[in-house]
Parts: sequence; C-alpha cells; structure tokens
Amino acid sequence: MAYADLHRASLQDPNAFWMEQAQAIDWVTPPSKALFDENAPLYEWFKDAQCNTCWNAVDRHVEAGRGEQTAIIYDSPITGTKRWISYVELRNRVASLAGALRAKGVEKGDRVIIYMPMIPEALEAMLACARLGAVHSVVFGGFAANELAVRIDDAQPKAIIAASCGLEPGRVVHYKPLLDAAIEAAAHKPDFCVIFQREQEVAELIPGRDYNWHGFQFGVAPAECVPVSGDHPAYILYTSGTTGQPKGVVRPTAGHMVALHWTMKAIYNVDPGDVFWAASDVGWVVGHSYICYAPLLAGNTTIVFEGKPIGTPDAGTFWRVISEHRVKSFFTAPTAFRAVKREDPKGEYVGKYDLSCLEQVYLAGERADPDTITWAQDKLGVPVVDHWWQTETGWAIAANPLGVEQLPIKIGSPAVAMPGYDVQVLDEGGHPVAPGTLGAIAIKLPLPPGTLPTLWNAETRFRKSYLEQFPGYYASGDAGYMDEDGYVYIMARTDDVINVAGHRLSTGGMEEVLASHPDVAECAVIGVSDDLKGQVPLGFLCLNKGADRDAAEVVSECVKLVRDKIGPVAAFKLAVVVDRLPKTRSGKILRATMVKIADGEAFKMPATIDDPAILDEIAVALQSLGLPATKA
Ligand code: COA
Ligand code: AMP
Repeated sequence: MAYADLHRASLQDPNAFWMEQAQAIDWVTPPSKALFDENAPLYEWFKDAQCNTCWNAVDRHVEAGRGEQTAIIYDSPITGTKRWISYVELRNRVASLAGALRAKGVEKGDRVIIYMPMIPEALEAMLACARLGAVHSVVFGGFAANELAVRIDDAQPKAIIAASCGLEPGRVVHYKPLLDAAIEAAAHKPDFCVIFQREQEVAELIPGRDYNWHGFQFGVAPAECVPVSGDHPAYILYTSGTTGQPKGVVRPTAGHMVALHWTMKAIYNVDPGDVFWAASDVGWVVGHSYICYAPLLAGNTTIVFEGKPIGTPDAGTFWRVISEHRVKSFFTAPTAFRAVKREDPKGEYVGKYDLSCLEQVYLAGERADPDTITWAQDKLGVPVVDHWWQTETGWAIAANPLGVEQLPIKIGSPAVAMPGYDVQVLDEGGHPVAPGTLGAIAIKLPLPPGTLPTLWNAETRFRKSYLEQFPGYYASGDAGYMDEDGYVYIMARTDDVINVAGHRLSTGGMEEVLASHPDVAECAVIGVSDDLKGQVPLGFLCLNKGADRDAAEVVSECVKLVRDKIGPVAAFKLAVVVDRLPKTRSGKILRATMVKIADGEAFKMPATIDDPAILDEIAVALQSLGLPATKA
C-alpha cells in the first residue's frame, strides 16, 4: 500500500489498522480491539490484552531458532572494547538479572531507576524490568545528583540499578557518589541498589543497601516473563517541561510494542537480522525506542556505542562503526553531524571506509539545518531522512517512510504525518490554518498506540500541559506550518523548552536554580543560536540591591550552580549581569525579544514593552559576550 492510502486507512479505521499491525506481536491473551475510547479525551490501546515486552524483544527470537544471531554489539572506542551478545545469551543474562531482582522483592508494577552509561548492561537492566513487569525509569548520566533525587521522589523506586562510573572523553563520571548524594537528598529511599562495577572505577558499596551486579545473581533462579495488561506502564521517562519539575512520560506496554515494531520496516527499512544503529544514549527517548526496544522487537542487531562523534578517536568513528558492523540504517542527531562536518568538512574520513552496507540515515531530536542534511547526503550518497518526534510520542510523528514508499525529500521538512497521527496546524483560537501559515502544531486525538496515555501520578498536569489548550487535540509544544503536500515544517517551541545538542532542556528549570543564588534578585534564561549545538542557554542575572559583588565572580558561581544542580548536560556556560530585564507593562519578561536580539535578528518593538531603553542595555551586555546583538 502507498503511504497516502496507509495514512488514510489508519485515521479512517484505527481499530482495523492497528489490529493488523498487532499480529506481529506475541500475545499471552490477544486484544479484543485496539482503541479504548471510553474515557476520552484519555485514550488507551490494546488495554485488555496480556503480553510481555521482554518476551517479544528477546525470548521469542530464541524460540524461533534465531538464538545465535547477535542481538547487541557493544562498541566502545572510549575503552577500546567490543563485544557481541547473541539473543540466547541476552535471554539468559536478562532472566538471571530479573530473577535476582525478584529475589530481592521487585515485582510487577514496582519502579526501578536505572542510572547507567552506554553499556549493554543498561539494556539488560531495562529488559529485566520488562521481564518482571517492573516499571523502569532510566536517568541520563549527564544529570546531577539533584535531578536524580527529583526523579527518585517522583517515581518512588523499590530499587536503583547503577554502574560504578561513566566515561566521558578525558573524564570519569563518578556515578556512585552522585547516586549516594541523590539518595541522601531524596525523601524516598529505595530498598536496595545494584551496582555494576566497571573496571575503570570500582565503587565502594554500602553494606546492606548496595549489591554487586554479579554477586547478587549468584545461585538465584532465572525469572520467566510475567504477563502484564496492555495498558501496564512499560516505563517512565522524565522529560523537560516548563518548570524544574520534569514530566514523567508514561509508556504503555502493548501500544509501545505494536507501534515500534511497525516502524522498523516501514520507517527505518530494516528486516530481521539487519544491523540498525541509533547513536544516542539510553537516557533519552531515542535510546529507549531505537537502541533498546524497537530493533530487538523486530529481531535486528542493535549497537550500543560508547563514544562521541568526534574525538573518540576522530571524526571517522561513525563511519568506522557503520563499516565494521555492516549497519544498514543509521540514526543520529543533526548536532552530531555538525560536529563531524566541522572537523572533516570535505568528508575525507568517509572515503576511508567501505560504507556499501549503509542504505539510509535518519536525523531527529532538533531541527535539521539544510547545510547539515546536504552535507550528509553528498558525502554518504544515501537518503538522509529528517523525522520529527518527542519523548511523549516515543516514535515518529512525521517522517519519510522509506520502507513503505520513498517520498520526495524536501530539505527543511521532516516530511509527512505517520499513520495514526492527524497532524494539524492551529491558530490561537484552535482553528486549522491554511497551508503555509504558521501556527501551533497539534494532533487530533486520539494519538496512535505507543504514545503517552498520561504523566506519572500527574493526570491533571497531563491534561493541562497537552489537552486543554486545544480541546480535542494534543498540543505538541512545537510551532510551524504544513505545505500543500502535507509536509510539516517545525520552526520553534511554543514553551520555554530549548534543544541543546539534541538534548531537551527547560530554561524555566535553569531559572529556578539561578534564582536560588543568594545574590540573584531576578533572572531570565533564553536559548541562543549556536553553530554546533543548535542552541545554548544564556542567563541574565539582576543582582540584589546592595550586593557588592564582582559580576564575573557571580557569573562563575552561577555557572557552577547550574552544573551542580542540573548537570553538565545543561551546557550552561554563558551568563551576564544586567541592571534590569525588559518586561511588558504587566511584568512579563520579554524572552522572545531577547532571543532575537542575541541572535542578531531584526525584531519588532513589542507594543506592550514597559521601557524600550532596556533593550539597548541588553544588546550591550550581549555584545560584551561576543554575540552579534542588535540594538533597537
Ligand atoms: N554523562 C556525563 N556527562 C555527560 C554525558 C553523560 N552521558 N553526556 C554529556 N555529558 C557532559 C559532557 O561531557 C559535557 O561536559 P563538559 O561541560 O565538562 O564538557 C556536557 O555534558 C555537555 O555535553 P554536550 O552538550 O553533549 O557537549 P560536548 O561538547 O560534550 O559534545 C557533541 C558535543 C555535539 C559531540 C555531542 O553533544 C553529541 O554527540 N551530541 C549528539 C546528541 C545526541 O545523540 N542526542 C540524543 C538525541 S537523538
Ligand atoms: P525530545 O522529547 O527530547 O525528543 O525533544 C522533542 C522536541 O525536539 C520536539 O518537540 C521538537 O521541538 C524537537 N525536535 C525533535 N525532532 C525534530 C525535528 N526533526 N525537527 C525539528 N525539531 C525537532
């Protein structure tokens, strides 16, 4: 079926469309229907089924005789290690870990936080939870202890599984002290922790609370797959919202499996046995969906890459991995390509490797700038597909479904709505606008299977954040337009979320941290354009009257504070002290105008501005940071 027919069919008869895709999944009890809309505008999919994700991702491939196929390739240029794990080995390792977790009391529905770097054990921990029906919540290693503590208090985990350390180029990330500090700071205490000791750093364990990953599995019976209902939460993944309190996106078990499985052929164009590589991190949604679950559900080989696009050891590392492991589809963030392109603009490293295996490349996580796409297309000679999605959806809202039909690539657009997504652009009153007109991008409810049914323990926030702005629609938080052919163009966020090196961050969260500095009376954080990272945060600080402090000193304390409270991933390095902030007469800080000034763009003087002279003060302050700031 051609794309357009497929999309139409999915919207006209969602039950028929998704029940057909559901046949690819092994069910303990099959669903009686796909869509459960009794509680609209809250929707659920395959709710009355019984199933297990680990069975579908691991065991069934062994049962089907493909146990010797490689499930995971671990390639770590940072440690100089490579390992191949077959499906049967993965099944045995996951069953043993799950058995040990169960022996310590972890059961269906219990939460388990996973705080691990890019090692295969991170996937094994996720799958062991799935095996038991325990709900995992993976926390990215670049977050500080405080962020981990916030997640511990929200998810209330029975156990935490962590590694002794992570490895950034030139720096060991000491996970264990971060973990200890987070548990100390959190009101909720886990019953126990499991620590995977890496040879690069062996952590000290706290007797009675911490168990060694290997030791605690000794002599324990392996666990079988525990059936859960279709709407059971597979995992919680926290993502940035408008405040420092992250949103716990809930992923429903059955819809997750059905949708992800469908994407592997339809979007990523791979078949069972093919090697698929998403160069992301298990701490992000891309890592959940496309390093761990989707490739395994589809019987592919997935790659766990512990390295960076450049510097580990060079800008040829992506091409080396693709060539060596015969990767057919490769997924990364535009920022990673920008980093490679900056070091190797002519693509000289590309020519050093046999990339004949590579058939297509996918980009997501932030806007893909035309230069980057064109560079990748030229150097690699394969289709480069930009696709748009969010932690909330877990899979692409818009893409070019190469496995169904290759649609024309329009550079600057992540192409067209995927099945189940009725994407519309709305004006402020919630009315659809004409093609080419900017507006809020919304998705008519219901969202397709696999997308978030709610936020963890926060249904009111779920409704408020996503459902109330445009009744009958999911508000994506992105603004943009659609053209006559239904191609979507994502232009900006409508909230204060920024995208730094493909990482989603809340400027509101950073403002909360800055405001806690004793000398800061008022502050604002904006995202300014950056050639490499897309955006970087920049803070404006107004100091308390009488704070007789050196501005540079306060700035460096504030930079350290954000790093300590949120983590290095915030990449908060730019801040400036100003006397006052530009505001409307009603006291709203004019952040959007400050962004335009910082980026050196023309801007209209806001009609409601209280005192226009402040804008020039802001421009002067930004120029002192070397930014191309424009004066009014
Ligand atoms: N654990 C601990 N610290 C981490 C981390 C992790 N998993 N990931 C990043 N950090 C740290 C970095 O070491 C850096 O610290 P520093 O300030 O001491 O240098 C900081 O967080 C900022 O990291 P980042 O913004 O990633 O910048 P970078 O200069 O280290 O690397 C790129 C730049 C472009 C190479 C890198 O951002 C990259 O590979 N991006 C791809 C992003 C991606 O895959 N996103 C997933 C969505 S698809
Ligand atoms: P995350 O939840 O971290 O995946 O971030 C989701 C946000 O990243 C989206 O709401 C967009 O703002 C942005 N984003 C993701 N993919 C794209 C894309 N292909 N083009 C433009 N923006 C994107």
